Amino acid sequence: MKKGKSFVVAGVAVLVVLVLILFVTSKIIILGGFTRLEAENVRQDMNRVLDALSNELVNLESAVLDWSNWDESCAFVADGNAEYVRTNLPTKTFSSLNVSCMIFMDSGGRIVFGMEYEPEEDRLTPIPESLKKHLDLSRSLVGIAGTKKGTAGLIALPEGPMLVSAQPILTSEGKGPRRGTVVFGRFLDTSVTEKLSRITHIKLKFFGINDDNIPTDIRDYGRLRTGGNPVIVRKNSEESISGFGMVKDIYGNPALIARVDLPRTIYQSGKKTIYYFMAWITCLVVASFILILMLFKKLGDITDRKRMEKEMLRAQKLESLGVLAGGIAHDFNNLLTGILGNISLARMHLDPGGKAYERLEGAEKASERARDLTQQLLTFSKGGAPVRKTASITQLIMDSAGFVLRGSNVRCDFSLADDLWPVSVDQGQISRVINNLVINACQSMPDGGTINVCGENYTTLPGDLLPLKEGRCVRISISDQGMGIPEENLQKIFDPYFTTKQKGSGLGLATVYSILKNHDGYVEVESKEGTGTVFTIYLPASENVPEVEMKSEEKKMPVPGMGRILVMDDDEMIREIASEILHYLGYDVVVCGDGSEAVDLYRVAKESEKPFNAVIMDLTVAGGMGGREAMVKLLEIDPQVKGIVSSGYSNDPILARYRDYGFCAVMAKPYNVENFTEIVQNL
Ligand SMILES: Nc1ncnc2c1ncn2[C@@H]1O[C@H](COP(=O)(O)OP(=O)(O)OP(=O)(O)O)[C@@H](O)[C@H]1O
Ligand SMILES: [Mg+2]
Repeated sequence: MKKGKSFVVAGVAVLVVLVLILFVTSKIIILGGFTRLEAENVRQDMNRVLDALSNELVNLESAVLDWSNWDESCAFVADGNAEYVRTNLPTKTFSSLNVSCMIFMDSGGRIVFGMEYEPEEDRLTPIPESLKKHLDLSRSLVGIAGTKKGTAGLIALPEGPMLVSAQPILTSEGKGPRRGTVVFGRFLDTSVTEKLSRITHIKLKFFGINDDNIPTDIRDYGRLRTGGNPVIVRKNSEESISGFGMVKDIYGNPALIARVDLPRTIYQSGKKTIYYFMAWITCLVVASFILILMLFKKLGDITDRKRMEKEMLRAQKLESLGVLAGGIAHDFNNLLTGILGNISLARMHLDPGGKAYERLEGAEKASERARDLTQQLLTFSKGGAPVRKTASITQLIMDSAGFVLRGSNVRCDFSLADDLWPVSVDQGQISRVINNLVINACQSMPDGGTINVCGENYTTLPGDLLPLKEGRCVRISISDQGMGIPEENLQKIFDPYFTTKQKGSGLGLATVYSILKNHDGYVEVESKEGTGTVFTIYLPASENVPEVEMKSEEKKMPVPGMGRILVMDDDEMIREIASEILHYLGYDVVVCGDGSEAVDLYRVAKESEKPFNAVIMDLTVAGGMGGREAMVKLLEIDPQVKGIVSSGYSNDPILARYRDYGFCAVMAKPYNVENFTEIVQNL
């Protein structure tokens, strides 16, 4: 579940980043393209405006030509006759030609006629002095003496910019010599601007370069841009854009700045395109993400199902092995009880330090190892049902791990939560789990290192996919930095007898697995070759208050006791050993071979002066009454009876729930003097 969640979070984050990157790049690329297109469009519109202005000059030029190539004009500049003026140059001519002034000069540059038209008052006034300065023969406007060429262009007057055209006066056939010059001027006023705007369909404005009241940025532009034909594009807002173009006067100096204002339709449609594009891409990415998520979930389901199947298979395998192991363990344990009991008794009769004592100690140790092996076997047989007590396992974990690592070059670092929930566990078995895991971790680091043991509370959730009941549990992880487990071995390590060690039995993890299974817990492993391994175990938390603070097992020294004990076992060797040990401990012992005999003996003793203080009974008796049945009868005789159930192996859940059957304690076979001391004295 956690993995799934983090996958979704990571996925969404990647998605958001992806969409953002896409948005930024598309803005740069797509919108950049549209912006360039828009600027190009502004430049083209500016050129159209400038073309329209040139057209206006051509019109003016052709109007001048009508007057300059005329015999009467030749005569007029020569004699200045008033009739020519009266007939040809009334105010009507000015208005119909749409010109602001008409100037006729003779070949010497003397003005024969020069009038300006004032349309508001429909009258003619002398041309302004500022214009006269441009009529100098040396200036390019009329400096065309000796040529038949005319000129047209713009001049900047203080009164405003003026379109002018000057043509040499020739005969009606266009023959020279040049008799003088005709100059027509047309102020570039609002009416002309409006006309150009109408023709081009572009919002347009002209600013004189030396106007006092032109906007500063335009003035700056005018100062900066004096060469070439640059059109500067400036965005005013999201809705409008302007273009600025330079118009030079007839002398080639900057004279006018033309400004066109355009709506940003190209840019807006670019923006719209991006939004549509982004919406589509986002939908597409989200849809693909959902699809991938569904696919992963499906794959996850399949993986989980496979994992569960493997889990079941493993459980089945262990179960059938358990039946076999359990069968062997019963007989083997009885044999071991004989061996171990005898050895421990023999040792008690010898002086410590002697050679025989040492040998027996060696033999006892070897038998104890054999017992451990049987115990390992027993735990994955049904006989290993845990004898539970509710407790906090903090101390147990620390003791078990610490005990295992004593004298080794591996250190253990504990990080156990203070408020670990209590668990209901078999102390011996869980201690074995910790032992096995810590031993493995230690063995994986032959050159030494640190094992980290962490313990925390954990609440399983529906999506956790752990084979655990939902709810509270305690999670303990044991991590090493050892050699790790190869991928191909990970599936096998819990199998009984799987080992990669020269002297390993391969029962360690199989036992861990079985013990946890019997505790309704779970073990999982994560490992990387060369990096290390983490084993994590889960134990369900108990609702009960802890009964005892758990401690790891320690050896009890034999302490002499007093009283009378009845021992019932169908195996003669066991009877002998038990009675020897109890005698050694100072007890008075009576033995018998089956349950009914034990009941009779107990009854008689109770009525006598020497009643029994305790009864130790084997659970299974071949062909006779077993311990369970006998206990029922004993309780009828004496509800205070102190019964101890002893067994090497049983399918019966009695060993785990012995109190329910009236027993006060369990004594697992094989036993030695110390086991007896501990159990009998605690009664
Ligand atoms: N912490 C670990 N690091 C590396 N390998 C491990 C670790 N724990 C277990 N293994 C591997 O799993 C195998 C099985 O482990 P298991 O404890 O069941 O048996 P064993 O340690 O080989 O023998 P035994 O515990 O019975 O003495 C080991 O042989 C080893 O290859
Ligand atoms: Mg091991």
